[in-house]
Amino acid sequence: AFYVGNHHAREHLSNEVALGLAIHLLENKNKPEVKKYLDTLDIYIIPMLNADGAEYDVATGSYRWHRKNTRINPDRSIGVDLNRNYDSLWCQAGSSHSPGSDTYCGPSAFSEPETLAVKRFVEGRKNIRTLMSYHSYGGLLLYPWAGMDTPVENLKDRMVFEKMAKAMTGFTGYKPQQSSDLYVATGDTTDWAYAAAGIFSFTTELEGKSFYPGAAAVDKAVTNNVKAAVYMLSVTDDPYKLVK
Ligand code: ARG
Ligand code: ZN
Repeated sequence: AFYVGNHHAREHLSNEVALGLAIHLLENKNKPEVKKYLDTLDIYIIPMLNADGAEYDVATGSYRWHRKNTRINPDRSIGVDLNRNYDSLWCQAGSSHSPGSDTYCGPSAFSEPETLAVKRFVEGRKNIRTLMSYHSYGGLLLYPWAGMDTPVENLKDRMVFEKMAKAMTGFTGYKPQQSSDLYVATGDTTDWAYAAAGIFSFTTELEGKSFYPGAAAVDKAVTNNVKAAVYMLSVTDDPYKLVK
């Protein structure tokens, strides 16, 4: 299982949730309900993929509303949208070739060190079956496709996506839906991980009404999303058991 937070700089709650999951697993490592997963699965957590972007967002002491990484583009604008830089229908719908755009896809797929690191990480670990990418905000749980309006072609896979999404939103109260129902966007993490490696990949749009919900929002978001994350662990050995 693979969890990743903070593709987008200003989405700080996504970092808290991924870190909170790591803390939960470590603090409860000897309890049977956690130990069974630590003993039988490989669990990978990247809490802050876009570390310098997140730092840039807060560096002055006032929030910058910065979304992208800190790439200096040829026109001197800052950043590539990491969630448009994956090689899945790269830079088609919902993505821009203009460097100044907040959804700038970059000069080529995997042009950025952050996305290239994810690609190499995933390709180097053939046993990854499930993936959760944390974003904020919206209170949604999204599954492929993001870049196409059509549903996932493979019926079994589609049923697994739907069952997992329904189960996880039972813990968070979020709304489960196909990603493209929010808006069509190409080049995102989950479409790539599913298409390239068959990984059951989800995007969580965490709760709240802003990118900066404040420290008071952290505990509840972590508690509920950790439950959903642990559910994901419970099916990671074989997600297809849900449709057997
Ligand atoms: N807010 C995320 C982003 O814009 C959502 C990505 C999910 N994809 C989608 N097509 N809605 O990167
Ligand atoms: Zn985001």
